[in-house]
Amino acid sequence: MNSPANLNPRPFAPRYPQLGTGPVPVSSAVDPAFFELERERIFRGMWVNLILREEDLPKPGDYFVRYLEAQDASILVVRGDDGKLRAFHNVCTHRGNQLAEEGAGHCKGFQCNFHGWTFDTRGRLAFVTDEQRFHNLDKSALGLPAVHLDTWRGFIFVNLAKRPAQTLELAMAEFNQDLKPFPFEQMVLAGRYRYAVNANWKVTMNAFQESYHGAFVHKLSVGQCISPEDPYLAVQRIKLQENGNQSVSVHLAPHDLSPAEKLAFGFGATFTQGGEAAQAFPGTAQAQVRDWGFDLNIIFPYSRINVGAGWYYVDAFWPVAHDKTVYELAYYFPMPQRASEMISQEYSKIVLRDLSREDLATNEATHRSLRSGAIRQMMLSDQEIAVRHLYHTVAARCGKELAK
Ligand code: FES
Ligand SMILES: [Fe+2]
Repeated sequence: MNSPANLNPRPFAPRYPQLGTGPVPVSSAVDPAFFELERERIFRGMWVNLILREEDLPKPGDYFVRYLEAQDASILVVRGDDGKLRAFHNVCTHRGNQLAEEGAGHCKGFQCNFHGWTFDTRGRLAFVTDEQRFHNLDKSALGLPAVHLDTWRGFIFVNLAKRPAQTLELAMAEFNQDLKPFPFEQMVLAGRYRYAVNANWKVTMNAFQESYHGAFVHKLSVGQCISPEDPYLAVQRIKLQENGNQSVSVHLAPHDLSPAEKLAFGFGATFTQGGEAAQAFPGTAQAQVRDWGFDLNIIFPYSRINVGAGWYYVDAFWPVAHDKTVYELAYYFPMPQRASEMISQEYSKIVLRDLSREDLATNEATHRSLRSGAIRQMMLSDQEIAVRHLYHTVAARCGKELAK
C-alpha cells in the first residue's frame, strides 16, 4: 500500500543502531532471579513517580503514604508546618513499627501506635513516652529516615538511593524540550483506575508501547479511528533517550463519527479528538504528527505522563513480583465549566477505561506462554522499537547485554 506511512517501512532502526534488529530474549520477563536483579540495580535507585501532584497536598500536615512493592518500602510524603514537602521511610525509629496507614490524610504529627513515640510534620522526633527510662537517647538524631524527594512540573518523585545517580532534573532533561510546556496546572484529577495483573511488569507495559496492535486489540473501542490506508497505525514519531525514557506519538484517522462521538466532540476535547481542532497544545507533538492523537511519554522504567488535546493521564506499571504487576492510571481534565463539558469528559473516561482494559487483555496469557518456555525470544518490528529499547536498557542496567 502506498500511503506515506508505508513509503519507508523501517524508519526507526537506522536511528538507533545500538539496539540492533534481531530477536529479543524473553527470559528477563519470567525469571524470578532477574526480578531481584532489577530490584537492586534499577528500582531501588530510580526516581519513582508517585502519581501524586504537589496540589494534592496543599496544606501543612497533608500527607500521603504508599507502599512500593518493587522497592519494598513504605514511603510517607508530608507537607511540613514550614510549607515544605518531604519524604520519609514510614518507619518509627523506636523499634520499626509502621507509622502511618496507607492512603492520604491530614495531621499535626504522627504518633506511633506501638509505644506512642510522636513525630512532627518535618519528620523530627517530638516526644518520647516514658523517656526517663531510656539510656542516652539523642532525640535529635532519631527523626524519621529521610528519602530524597523532588518535583518536576508539579509531579512528586522520590528516590530511595542514598545518593541518587542523577538529579530528577537531569533524568527528565530531554523531556524539557517537548513535554515541559504542557499546561498540567490547568487540569484537575478526574479519576483513577487500578488493575492487578498476573504478568511481569515489562510484559504488561509492552502492550502499551506500540500502536501496531491497534487494529486488533482496540477494534471495538477505537476501530473507527484506523483507516484502510494505514491499517496498522504506523507510528510517525518515536524518540528514545539514552537513559531509557521514551516518547511515542499515536495518531488517529479522521472518521465518520458515531452518535456518542458526535455528542461528546461537540461539547469539548475528548480522548479521541473533538474540541477546538485549530487549538495548539504546547508540550505535545501535535505539529509534527499527521492526525496527531496523543503522546506517550515513558519515564524509565515503568511510569508515563501521556498528553493529548486538553487532557493528560499519568500511569505506572508497578512491579509487585516477577509475575505480578499493578497497573494504575490517574486522568486529568480541565475543571468543567458547564454540564456539557462533563459529558465530553465522561465519554473520555469510558474510552480510556475500555482502551486500558483492552491493552491489559493479552498480558496474562502472554506471560503464561513465555513462562512455559515454548518460545525463548520475541520478533519485533520497527514499529515495536520502544519494546526493544526497554529490554536493552533493563539488560544494560542489570549488567547483561542483549544480542544485537
Ligand atoms: S515502635 Fe514506635 S513507639 Fe515503639
Ligand atoms: Fe493499546
